[in-house]
Amino acid sequence: MRVLGLHKDPWHNTGAALISGDDDQARFVMVSEERLDRVKDSRAFPEKAVAACMREFGVRSFADLDLVVTDYIASDSWKEDFIHRPCRTDVFLAQLPKDKVLTLNHHLAHAYAAYFSSGFNNAAILVVDGRGSDKETQSLYVADGMTVRLIASTDVIGIGLLYAAVTHAIGFGLLQEGKTMGLAPYGELVDRRIFNIQRAFDGIVTDYSSVCVDGSYDLKIPTPPLRSFEDRARAAFEVQKECEEAMLHLSKWAKDSTGKDKLCITGGVALNSVANFKILQSGLYRDVFINPAASDTGIPLGAALYGYHACLGMRRNYDEIPVFIGPSYDRREIEAALSSFDGFGVRRERALEQAAAMLADNKIVACHFGKSEMGPRALGNRSILMSPLLPENKDILNSRVKHRESFRPFAPAIMEEHTAEYFEMDRPSPYMLLVPQVRADKRTIIPAVTHVDGSGRLQTLTPKRNPLLYALARLFKEATGVPVLLNTSFNVNGEPIVESPVDAIRCFLGTDIDALLIGGDTLLVKKQGH
Ligand SMILES: [Fe+2]
Repeated sequence: MRVLGLHKDPWHNTGAALISGDDDQARFVMVSEERLDRVKDSRAFPEKAVAACMREFGVRSFADLDLVVTDYIASDSWKEDFIHRPCRTDVFLAQLPKDKVLTLNHHLAHAYAAYFSSGFNNAAILVVDGRGSDKETQSLYVADGMTVRLIASTDVIGIGLLYAAVTHAIGFGLLQEGKTMGLAPYGELVDRRIFNIQRAFDGIVTDYSSVCVDGSYDLKIPTPPLRSFEDRARAAFEVQKECEEAMLHLSKWAKDSTGKDKLCITGGVALNSVANFKILQSGLYRDVFINPAASDTGIPLGAALYGYHACLGMRRNYDEIPVFIGPSYDRREIEAALSSFDGFGVRRERALEQAAAMLADNKIVACHFGKSEMGPRALGNRSILMSPLLPENKDILNSRVKHRESFRPFAPAIMEEHTAEYFEMDRPSPYMLLVPQVRADKRTIIPAVTHVDGSGRLQTLTPKRNPLLYALARLFKEATGVPVLLNTSFNVNGEPIVESPVDAIRCFLGTDIDALLIGGDTLLVKKQGH
């Protein structure tokens, strides 16, 4: 069976996923259009992503697909999108028989992506985002075995839209909520309220309609001009606290409504790793899972999973869905990319050891390894790494490569068995979606990845899940005694994460990165003068 999942919402994060499977094994591929058209949060019809997914499993035509599932098809014609803008669909979708195309609700796609990625066999599933295909803002599902059932849903303005509106008021623009979360701790000590946020919590509803203007990202409440850093930080702090309270309310209510002791959190608000950690800490649930593609980047996978399991009745013959399910690049493609650029030396002897030695020598090393990771976080296969040991490394990375706002933290990646030594948490955080405190005695040891409030957006590494990054962390520990690396996405500010070997080499040469470990066994080191 082959099921193609699409997200063709014209607002952001379009993409495609393909599940190819039989009773023995299901295989997955997913990629966002932005990784291929190189436009951040691309809203283009995902034709490049569709082509890449089909190529991955050798699917030559739509006649070879059993089903195509998407969350938005407001127009009858595949040749138009949701806002009746012509799409370049003729290459792929004009061939598609109508009976092979199915639509599902946006939040249901989020729910499928989270639950079937989690490895749980039953759970409550909270979906919290801006708005979905039927204007839904917040939903609760319950999953038992293969059945996913809606408990409640609302279209009342919720925490996702409030967070986006305050982010807009701060001046960060659309889809920049992560910046607000990073700024929030700086506002904790500002002794001056910015907003008077009225809200009403009732079941699935966290009502902010008296605060937000429906259909826009404007606020109804008096908002002073947020000019100073202190005021912007205070605004971020207030909405972050609101987010934590709203998510805790929803989690508690979900527990009361379903009786489940496992929770999946998904939708864009599930990228709020600070709120996620508060839910985990609350002890409401025995286990909490947040899928790495919790934003709309995960919709294609959720749509395909719905088609595969709910429509075609295929068994679930896997545990967790791996995070690294981008398209493959073989040795031939990597060598072709290497030979089409110059300006670097190629080292093939003990490349991994040399890369780790450079990290211990405080150099900036990028990695391009295997298939890309789903979702917005780079988790080692498309990452830039640096030592976390020196406080100035944040500024060095920002001035030489990333050019991000200086208040934004960089994330720690740690060998999983050392988690409790360095962090006030003792459980896996494989997708950088939990933010525990760094232990007080370790903050001066890893200052480049310790945020102003003493926290760190943690990724835990295992040899099985992250063979390359774990090996680098182990070698770094042998050299320095510290099992932690600074891990940030392989891109420059405002660009999508690199996808292909060519993207990686281009970004490496266009920035002041010292070396690029490509394919896990080849180290490119800049020549003098480049
Ligand atoms: Fe969404």
